[in-house]
Amino acid sequence: MYNSKIIGLGHYVPENVVTNNDLSKVMDTNDAWIQERTGIKERRHVVKGDGDTTTTMGVKAAKVAIDRAGIDKDDIDFIIFATLSPDYYFPGPGVLVQRDLGIKTVGALDVRNQCSGFIYALSVADQYIKSGMYKNVLVIGSELHSHGLDMTTRGRGVSVIFGDGAGAAVLSREENRDSGILSTHLHSEGQHAEELSLIAPGMGKRWVTDIIADNDADDESYFPYMNGQFVFKNAVVRFSEVINEGLAANNMNAGDIDLLVPHQANLRISQFVQKQFRLRDDQVYNNIMNYGNTTAASIPIALTEAWEQEKVKKGDVVVLAAFGSGFTWGSAIIKW
Ligand code: UT7
Repeated sequence: MYNSKIIGLGHYVPENVVTNNDLSKVMDTNDAWIQERTGIKERRHVVKGDGDTTTTMGVKAAKVAIDRAGIDKDDIDFIIFATLSPDYYFPGPGVLVQRDLGIKTVGALDVRNQCSGFIYALSVADQYIKSGMYKNVLVIGSELHSHGLDMTTRGRGVSVIFGDGAGAAVLSREENRDSGILSTHLHSEGQHAEELSLIAPGMGKRWVTDIIADNDADDESYFPYMNGQFVFKNAVVRFSEVINEGLAANNMNAGDIDLLVPHQANLRISQFVQKQFRLRDDQVYNNIMNYGNTTAASIPIALTEAWEQEKVKKGDVVVLAAFGSGFTWGSAIIKW
């Protein structure tokens, strides 16, 4: 048995910055409301036609991560790609990464767990490495939200929150069982599946042909829906629960956390969790101010930035935690 450890991190965000004031020009919203409720100041949106997609952003982040890992792309044994905004309905972006990076014909798996997608992907990679099946696994979280949002006042409760971007990590075999990813903890509660969802197009209720046939200007089924307050209330409880579960599994307590990197859902949620665990400001990494909520990309982007800013040091206990659509949630306890 081995552990796995993160040996390379990278991120990519599109250049186009969209401020809260920019949004107020296309919908009835304002900087004060967005900052007060979410902490977001700006986010990145891919400009249509400039060539960036969920896959290409993931590839750019992956190249940086592979380079920093100091390995060759052909040393990658497996690819895991987490997203809710794939380029195609099928196939998923994992195989597109295999093609675009020119990696040999290794397996490529797509993870559909939304905001907790990166932690789910990390957990799968960790198990493959722990079992000895693979040595180096590339894990990507990437999202292109902006092309699918309702950018009118009708969609403002959701559209102001989400941004585009990608993050990637290379996981590798670690012989020291006290180092690397110590444990991961995953949960779901499908009872609330529709509280944060995008229902159409889907084979369940409405396919593209139904949407076209109905030709209904009031149709909102192909825009994301979020019962914001309900999601918020569940998020604060589940974040705390799953962090505590991870700490307990490793005989740790809040005092052992060096850095918490929470999924960037809402700055108020991060601050609530910070308070619960009595962490100082410098022990929680937040960047939702600059990027909004980038779903599966938010943790790898934040972790990459934290690492670049030398906020993660060898021997540190780093805790990752996420909650979102599904509902799904999870945590990872890492000894850096
Ligand atoms: O990453 C996945 C997990 N996601 C989350 O954890 C998100 C959890 N939820 C939230 O972060 C918050 O619920 C939101 C930020 C989405 C919304 O904040 P809220 O305090 O729950 O606001 P609300 O939806 O209850 O709306 C309050 C008011 C409403 O107006 P009335 O009915 O009180 O007149 C909304 O119509 O704010 C209005 N509103 C807006 N006003 C200006 C909603 N969106 C906007 C907006 N600009 N963008």
